[in-house]
Amino acid sequence: MSNVKDSIFLKSLRGEPCDRTPIWIMRQAGRYLPEYQEVRSRLSFTELCHTPEAACEVTLQPIRRFGFDAAIMFSDILTLLEPMGAPFDFSQGGPKLERPLRSEKEIDSLQTYDAQDGTHFVAEAIKLMKQGLGDKTPLIGFAGSPFTLATYLIEGGGSKNYENLKTMLYSRPELLTRLMDKLTDQTIDYLNMQVDAGVDAVQLFDTWGGILHPADYATVILPCVKRIMDSLKDKGVPRIYFLKGSAPYLDLVTTLDVEALGMDWTMDMAKSLPLMKGYAVQGNLDPLALFGTEDQIRDRALDICREGSKAPGHVFNLGHGILPQAPISAVETLVETVQGFRKGL
Ligand code: CP3
Repeated sequence: MSNVKDSIFLKSLRGEPCDRTPIWIMRQAGRYLPEYQEVRSRLSFTELCHTPEAACEVTLQPIRRFGFDAAIMFSDILTLLEPMGAPFDFSQGGPKLERPLRSEKEIDSLQTYDAQDGTHFVAEAIKLMKQGLGDKTPLIGFAGSPFTLATYLIEGGGSKNYENLKTMLYSRPELLTRLMDKLTDQTIDYLNMQVDAGVDAVQLFDTWGGILHPADYATVILPCVKRIMDSLKDKGVPRIYFLKGSAPYLDLVTTLDVEALGMDWTMDMAKSLPLMKGYAVQGNLDPLALFGTEDQIRDRALDICREGSKAPGHVFNLGHGILPQAPISAVETLVETVQGFRKGL
């Protein structure tokens, strides 16, 4: 009988030898898939995140279609904020918060809660997903990093210059730290709940952690990431830290006790791997490379596979989420190429 612990995805993250390179892609469940659009024609994005059966269905869709080597639970990094008192509206395209949190009073109004209660629907969804996936395909749980969550809370949505967050950083750093600490506490409870519900690995998404000077990254962000990752150490699941734009912070990131580090497409594997010794790596094809020709996709994917095979473990991924306009045929080419790659060939 096979066991999900023997899957090539988990083996790669643990740095064990595998016959081939596993692949999944960030945002693999989403708008580029017609079957996802079909579900979304019936449910809003928020309803979809709150309905375990539907969240399970869209989690399984890319596994059925492409045979990815891992599934990622369908939800959003902003889901954990709603029970804290900060619900985001997704109906206008990007996420929007009715009242951004900027003053001390607004930040103190955020409430932490027991993840088993406030996000019980996530635990229920994970149980359904595990049943649906069986013992072949592992399930990844996730959360947003406290800093990335803080950008959305303070700016009230996506942002270009992060002027409100940076004003807080440079004028009232203690207030930003207070917010980050609260988000860190909640994220620890949330991720531990996900592991208890059955996820096989966890990824912390730090999409906007790369906007600070490294000295500020070290004091503001790194201690929170460390606290979250350390809280999961004894849970027995691999921990992946994806920091977009992490190249200038590699010396800091490699102080973390995690199994794997995500790489975006701006990193050259050949140059970066010597600076990331001891870590399994995940990445790092430019999501826009999927708009190139089939030959280009194959060549670039194989380059990454060859370089990645020099790390203790390599999980193939895009360097960031797939775009809604990505052609399905390009994803097929990518999966076929990566799954056909054998080390040494
Ligand atoms: O990877 C997966 O397939 C799992 C699901 C997942 C979603 N969001 C679904 C989603 C995951 C892991 C995320 C993470 C997420 N969400 C991040 C971190 C990773 C990244 O991509 O940078 C961030 C920053 C968010 C916040 C967020 N959620 C934004 C900015 C948006 C709107 C912009 C956009 O890309 O649409 C969302 C909405 C969202 N999250 C969608 C999906 C499929 C689109 C919603 C829809 O169907 O209309």
